[in-house]
Amino acid sequence: MKKDKVYLLEDLHDEIQRLEFQDQVWADETKTLWEKAQFSHCDHILDLGCGPGFASMELARSIKAGGKVTALDSTLEYLEFLKQKIQKENISNLHTLHSPIENAPFENEQFDGVFARMVLLFIKDLEQALEKIFQSMRPGGRLAISDFHSYRSSFIMSPHSPKLEKILDIQHNFFLRHSCDLEIARKLPELLMDLGFDIMSLDPIQKIGKPQNQYWTWVEIFLHKFIPQLIEEKEITKTLADEFWLEWNTRKKDPKTFFTTPTFLNIVAKKP
Ligand SMILES: C[S@@+](CC[C@H](N)C(=O)[O-])C[C@H]1O[C@@H](n2cnc3c(N)ncnc32)[C@H](O)[C@@H]1O
Repeated sequence: MKKDKVYLLEDLHDEIQRLEFQDQVWADETKTLWEKAQFSHCDHILDLGCGPGFASMELARSIKAGGKVTALDSTLEYLEFLKQKIQKENISNLHTLHSPIENAPFENEQFDGVFARMVLLFIKDLEQALEKIFQSMRPGGRLAISDFHSYRSSFIMSPHSPKLEKILDIQHNFFLRHSCDLEIARKLPELLMDLGFDIMSLDPIQKIGKPQNQYWTWVEIFLHKFIPQLIEEKEITKTLADEFWLEWNTRKKDPKTFFTTPTFLNIVAKKP
């Protein structure tokens, strides 16, 4: 497995669909984050690790023609998908940039705002990336981050689900071994302050998943993609996967079932 493709399965079409659904599930919390960051009409915003760009398009619409969005990602296929969308929907204030953030060809003090949702957890040299972000922002610029705070310890099924616990332990270790930190947001406020950012807001985001609600479906779609990958990587056996799905589907029919979703932290930081 390539280090930078932790959960990015070969079937990119499926992954784009998953990210589109994920974008819809967290759209309200994302809009609140943008409002808190005061992204406004004439701003130049960087969408860092934009993926297929569902949020970039919404951001470009919301800051209107007076502002512009640069959608940066290290995965070319996502940007090709986004470029087609930009053309089809005739969005004039949204541009793509193919680069890892660490080597992005930015000028200093270029951006009024930076948005990074579920991307910092994948970045290996986080401090270098944050420094790059800091330099690329103008004084007074706002950085809006949404990332996992406590995936393993906050994602809990009731009644207790031993097979889910087992899969989550394996997932946690698997991500760590691939340098992906599912608790990244715990470290960010301190790192940002050390760089010179002021923290404007910290908001934990957690929901209740119930069978068939959107949070349940969000998790289920991820597991449907990720568990076959764990089997392929010989992290789990097919037998364990089958036992897990049997337990999951039994829970799904039980009206007493719910889970708490993995907790995100939404952060707004300002460059003085
Ligand atoms: C889970 S997706 C999130 C996409 C998007 N931010 C969203 O919320 O829908 C993570 C994205 O980060 C990108 N990524 C990972 N490491 C990166 C890096 N060093 N520089 C730029 N993009 C990176 C991946 O290519 C992927 O598109």
